[in-house]
Amino acid sequence: QPVALWGGRFASGPDAAMAALSASTHFDWRLAPYDIAGSRAHARVLHRAGLLSEDELTGMLAALDTLAADVESGAFTPTVADEDVHTALERGLLERAGAELGGKLRAGRSRNDQVATQFRMWLAAAARRVVSGTLDVIDSLLAQARRYPDAVLPGRTHLQHAQPVLLAHHLLAHAQALLRDVGRLRDWDTRAAESPYGSGALAGSSLGLDPDAVAAELGFPTSVDNSIDGTASRDFAAEFGFAVAMLGVNLSRIAEEVIIWNTAEFGYVTLDDAWATGSSIMPQKKNPDVAELTRGKSGRLIGNLTGLLATLKAQPLAYNRDLQEDKEPVFDSVEQLELLLPAIAGMLDTLTFHTDRLAAMAPAGFTLATDIAEWLVRAGVPFRVAHEAAGECVRVAERRNVGLDELTDEELGTIHPALTPRVREVLTVPGSIASRDARGGTAPARVAEQRERLAAAVAEH
Ligand code: ARG
Repeated sequence: QPVALWGGRFASGPDAAMAALSASTHFDWRLAPYDIAGSRAHARVLHRAGLLSEDELTGMLAALDTLAADVESGAFTPTVADEDVHTALERGLLERAGAELGGKLRAGRSRNDQVATQFRMWLAAAARRVVSGTLDVIDSLLAQARRYPDAVLPGRTHLQHAQPVLLAHHLLAHAQALLRDVGRLRDWDTRAAESPYGSGALAGSSLGLDPDAVAAELGFPTSVDNSIDGTASRDFAAEFGFAVAMLGVNLSRIAEEVIIWNTAEFGYVTLDDAWATGSSIMPQKKNPDVAELTRGKSGRLIGNLTGLLATLKAQPLAYNRDLQEDKEPVFDSVEQLELLLPAIAGMLDTLTFHTDRLAAMAPAGFTLATDIAEWLVRAGVPFRVAHEAAGECVRVAERRNVGLDELTDEELGTIHPALTPRVREVLTVPGSIASRDARGGTAPARVAEQRERLAAAVAEH
């Protein structure tokens, strides 16, 4: 027996195609525990407002407990006739409390304030899961930074060899970005922690109900200031969608590097067997599928955010049914991340870095040229001139197919009189790296400090 929430003024039920279009329980059933929690809190404020007797409150809470248990066990499930999670649970309540008592719970609330509240609750719990998964990825990067404290690699700009850096410095750069993603989700959580319950359809309640009491029971520090905003706004969902899309994009940048590092041409890393896949036809293949799926799913997360923003654009206040489209994209982003985060954490943690290969490549491409220029600056040569001279060194070395440290004394002196053989002291990868010792630089001591600060920040979450 379907229980529509709005039958009174209708002579007929919805057409099957209308009902099929309208239905949302296939995705909003995720909100069921929050709907029931909201119903408990709502029953209490109805009681406090004198709209439910003590006995009625007891009966209502008992029926809600049974309903919650039946939802949990799967004994109660939505049917095709239930329009949405709220309607289905209303039916479940009426079946358990009886139509007369059960029918009292709807006073002073609307699906509009219910869904806005429950969506925030679902997202807050999801934010905590995503944060925890992201911290695990950061932990993997920290573990690698500790495992390889002295390994070097050619740092790149424009994907070209630029300056040698510590591998740990490079890995921690990714960790810093992920830590900001965590911070964004935490900030979001503070901003989104306002309960719209009690806003009704849009105008608020006339029944003397206390929205702050409901908010407190549901774990929100406050209720919303404006019932129209409470039921119509979804920037909390879009902001969440951005935070997780940004996380996806940051993960995709790590993923892209792992994919490149894993090629024969680079040969920087070997993937652990547990985090790679083979080819159905080419027996030799060991593919970086975790990284590729990370890269791929980041596009999906961007799409989810973009779709949500497009749904919200130009919607007049207050609630419009368009808003039912707000949930699936964000649910999907979270569910993709819950698959992705443990896999990328595992892949990164088990990556073997080929430090000899990395060290051999670190000076290639004349990555120490900047060190020549800065050595000249320390000798009093203006940087413009020093830059020219260092560039000339590269030109000569390239022509002779030798490294910068192999230029002859005579070649150096001809390029610039200040270029004495002592310049070779800075023409080593460890020398170059150690010299970048200002805060934030790649010198080993600075990187170790950075690593420990980051570990402390992770421990605080
Ligand atoms: N299922 C809707 C949503 O997800 C809430 C129901 C509001 N329906 C209505 N006719 N006001 O947004």
